[in-house]
Amino acid sequence: MVIGICNFDIVCNLRIVIWDFNAVSGKANRFYLNQLELTLTNPWVCLYLIGEKMSDRKPLIAGNWKMNLNLDESVDLVKTLIGSMVDLEGVEVLVAPPYTSLATVKNAIGSARILLAAQNMHWETSGAYTGEISGQMLVETGCTHVILGHSERRTHFGETDEMIDLKAKTALLVGLIPVICIGETLEEREKEQTFEVIKRQLDGSLGSFRDDRVSSFSIVLAYEPVWAIGTGRTATPEQAQEVHHFIREWIKGNFGAETANSLRVLYGGSVKPGNIKDLMSKQDIDGALVGGASLKADSFISLIRLGES
Ligand code: PGA
Repeated sequence: MVIGICNFDIVCNLRIVIWDFNAVSGKANRFYLNQLELTLTNPWVCLYLIGEKMSDRKPLIAGNWKMNLNLDESVDLVKTLIGSMVDLEGVEVLVAPPYTSLATVKNAIGSARILLAAQNMHWETSGAYTGEISGQMLVETGCTHVILGHSERRTHFGETDEMIDLKAKTALLVGLIPVICIGETLEEREKEQTFEVIKRQLDGSLGSFRDDRVSSFSIVLAYEPVWAIGTGRTATPEQAQEVHHFIREWIKGNFGAETANSLRVLYGGSVKPGNIKDLMSKQDIDGALVGGASLKADSFISLIRLGES
């Protein structure tokens, strides 16, 4: 009997392959198990633990265009993306233009496999909220996703975790997938408060999901260290992985292993063609939320190709 040794903390991310050799026929049967629950009574059973990524999480490359690109530029970019993506199956692509471009960009996307997101929404479905946009309005323009709690919203517009929690709940109610952003400032990292901040943001922005005992939901999380956004300074793959792992463990602790294994956690903050491969080679990094490098067709297309699994 041969038993491979592995770190049992990460056993749910491993594929356990059992070869049962039949001594008479010489044939081997192959089984897959997700858990180590075996009674090894058969001396012919060999057990191997193969360190292979088991999750079905499809990489997602999301372009957050912020307050950039006019209508014509947005349409040109989307059309170029569509033209270059025909052979790409192993990656999902999402674009988040400004509100005023959503309908036009949706029209340009047509039936192509590009997802559309808004960069924000209000938590109420309608009412006297001058200047605001509801989730239902976003659905009508063809959005499938909405970015919530981006650090620029938190910093410049006073958004709190509680507001993000309300928005995320409404988004799911109207059929939008929220892409919820969290991340620490440089000062918080230097004071070694990163995990505390991430936990506080998760507790706050997903608090009511947990309190309502929601067991399965469709959301995307994006870890974006504030010090890496638009600065050209990226977290190292190791720094990012450490936080992504923490986030997945938090999800596991609050919503169970199945949700934790299926939920995508993107990295954001100065992602470019030169660093995406190393970032995405990490176990818990499932894609990227990209600002600057998503505004130009050549860099966005490179990111999509490099991000494909
Ligand atoms: P950046 O922006 O890629 O320009 O750093 C990322 C973001 O703000 O989502």
